[in-house]
Amino acid sequence: MVKICCIGAGYVGGPTMAVIALKCPDIEVVVVDISSPRIAGWNSDRLPIYEPGLDDVVKQCRGRNLSFSTEVHRHVGDADIVFVSVNTPTKTCGLGAGKAADLTYWESAARMIADVSVSDKIVVEKSTVPVKTAEAIEKILAHNGRGFSYQILSNPEFLAEGTAIRDLLSPDRVLVGGRRDTAAGSAAVDLLAGVYARWVPQDRIITTNLWSAELSKLAANAFLAQRISSVNAVSALCEATGADIAEVAHSVGKDARIGSRFLSASVGFGGSCFQKDILNLVYICECYGLPEVASYWREVIRINDYQKSRFVNRVVSSMFNTVAGKKVAVLGFAFKKDTGDTRETPAIDVCKGLLGDKAVVSIYDPQVAGEQVARDLAMNKFDWDHPRHLQPLEQLSATDLEKQVAVAADAYEAAKDAHAVCILTEWDEFRGLDYRRMFQGMQKPAFVFDGRNVVEVAKLREIGFVVYSIGKPL
Ligand code: NAD
Ligand code: UGA
Repeated sequence: MVKICCIGAGYVGGPTMAVIALKCPDIEVVVVDISSPRIAGWNSDRLPIYEPGLDDVVKQCRGRNLSFSTEVHRHVGDADIVFVSVNTPTKTCGLGAGKAADLTYWESAARMIADVSVSDKIVVEKSTVPVKTAEAIEKILAHNGRGFSYQILSNPEFLAEGTAIRDLLSPDRVLVGGRRDTAAGSAAVDLLAGVYARWVPQDRIITTNLWSAELSKLAANAFLAQRISSVNAVSALCEATGADIAEVAHSVGKDARIGSRFLSASVGFGGSCFQKDILNLVYICECYGLPEVASYWREVIRINDYQKSRFVNRVVSSMFNTVAGKKVAVLGFAFKKDTGDTRETPAIDVCKGLLGDKAVVSIYDPQVAGEQVARDLAMNKFDWDHPRHLQPLEQLSATDLEKQVAVAADAYEAAKDAHAVCILTEWDEFRGLDYRRMFQGMQKPAFVFDGRNVVEVAKLREIGFVVYSIGKPL
């Protein structure tokens, strides 16, 4: 029986390995992590991440050919294929701070593989890494290994949170990069491609060289984020001219060369990857002496920051230039619907912007716990990780947080006595709310600032709300 071990039981490692275990009952899959609470979560009835469909898949395989463990060394040591799916955040200090990927976790995983191996291995880069990382890993393994042979493959993950299981079961493509010019490299590519071929049609499995695979992942995320910044840039022009972003995006997206998906204007993109991967791409371009290319991609982030600041400024300026002491309901804190993940969510910047203007914020999200909101708002952001157009906010003390921030049990409680409602995540339930009931409980004039275009503007205006919706005529 082939044994797969995945280092890192996070948003990628957990769901990806669960689906491999589901589709390959003859492969033993073990997911290991240094975080015991995370592993305990994976072994419990309440999984550590919220992802539609995940519970079912885990229930089917856990105890059969899927397990979660903190015994990292033992399972890595005798695995045939080791996936490395650890976090690769942006460096916060030293050379490349604010841009380069921090490969500390990656490097320590690679050194550990070399230390504990008791057999030859295929080592798979699942994490998103800078192009040429495989070369560094090969060096670490070659210089520290104990005579075992290692084949490095790049197999970047393209799943999106909220649709991870669907994406894994039916991916647009699976990418496997390796050293096809050597017999051992080629055999490793074929072995991994063969695992996916159990459920992914052959024409969706792409094999490339290592550097193309590594770079394709960064490029794909940059292209996706660039689409959002493009539509968000046009949304600002819509508001200035009376055009409607929904109509413009529909017309633009009808061109088959452009396509209709991923053209929803928003308060800005969030999530753990778009910003970090573009910053990483910018850094790589700078390192290779390509400043024009670097600045092209950097603009995608600038527009995203601009969009978040623009939203906050619109809220404050519409409410007579001050929100001090006014209650503002925030509906949605996760970075998108169907996830409880708040990493780099635009809600953090928007809330901090409102708090900086002394608003009292009442937050409701169906999947984000109050403690997570408090942690996110208390966290001091780095200079580079902050929209330049927003006033930098001093770190909030625990007392400020208690005075200015509340977490509500539902949308109606959040909106009770509020002057305004800001919709920051496109949860389906926000479309079906009883806005008339909400209006009755609010201060007047009652404002709605829709950062996700979920409400029907005309209907809300009929109720009496003053409505501002991204990219819609004012
Ligand atoms: P995550 O933070 O949810 O999970 C990473 C896990 O790795 C953590 O649980 C951490 O404890 C563990 N870890 C770190 N060092 C370790 C070590 N030495 N030994 C054992 N465990 C260790 O991160 P994630 O969201 O799953 O992302 C992982 C990688 O996948 C990143 O490079 C990310 O860019 C990429 N990615 C993420 C997504 C996504 O939707 N989140 C999608 C595609 C790719
Ligand atoms: C994204 C990519 O879609 C995945 O392919 C990739 O694997 C992943 O990043 C990664 O590398 O981490 P994810 O961040 O989970 O996935 O979610 P997306 O659906 O891409 O949404 C990202 C952000 O963009 C969210 O804040 C979302 O609300 C926003 N968005 C998305 C828009 O504002 N408009 C859109 O049209 C689409």
